[in-house]
Amino acid sequence: MLLKPKNMQNNWNLERANEILATFPPNRSELIKALHALQDKHPQYYLPDEVLDLVAKHFKLTKAQVYGVVSYYSMFSTKPRGKYIVRVCQSPVCHSMGSETLFDFIEKEWDLKPGNTTPDGKITLEKTECLGRCGKAPSMMVNETVYTDLSPEKLKEIWSNLT
Ligand code: FES
Repeated sequence: MLLKPKNMQNNWNLERANEILATFPPNRSELIKALHALQDKHPQYYLPDEVLDLVAKHFKLTKAQVYGVVSYYSMFSTKPRGKYIVRVCQSPVCHSMGSETLFDFIEKEWDLKPGNTTPDGKITLEKTECLGRCGKAPSMMVNETVYTDLSPEKLKEIWSNLT
């Protein structure tokens, strides 16, 4: 099984960010969609500081307001991310079914803590809220693929496919 890595586009620059932004009317109801579009198009799947400036200008908001939105939602990041984003659910059901054990296992096996990226830029580990798969907890998502019924053994197998 080969997981699809994030689309590593190399044509990203501030001009490109402005073009993307221009496709959204400057209504606040469009803010989240615009942030998603900007993040999706960035080769490191994050929102750099200078992009937050552009967004604030476009939506006539302060940068603090934009930052407030970005930091509220766990799917947004202001730090560069790896080719694979591993999001382990930390919501109550997954937590009670052992997601903390998975974080401990990942740290022990691969020396990776939530919020960090491996030195080779390949894998970013994050905590996430409920993925809607509570019936098969604990769950996690790798880029767009959800995995359930996780155990350290299953995690190891999935990890070995992140190439
Ligand atoms: S609590 Fe983890 S998927 Fe719902």
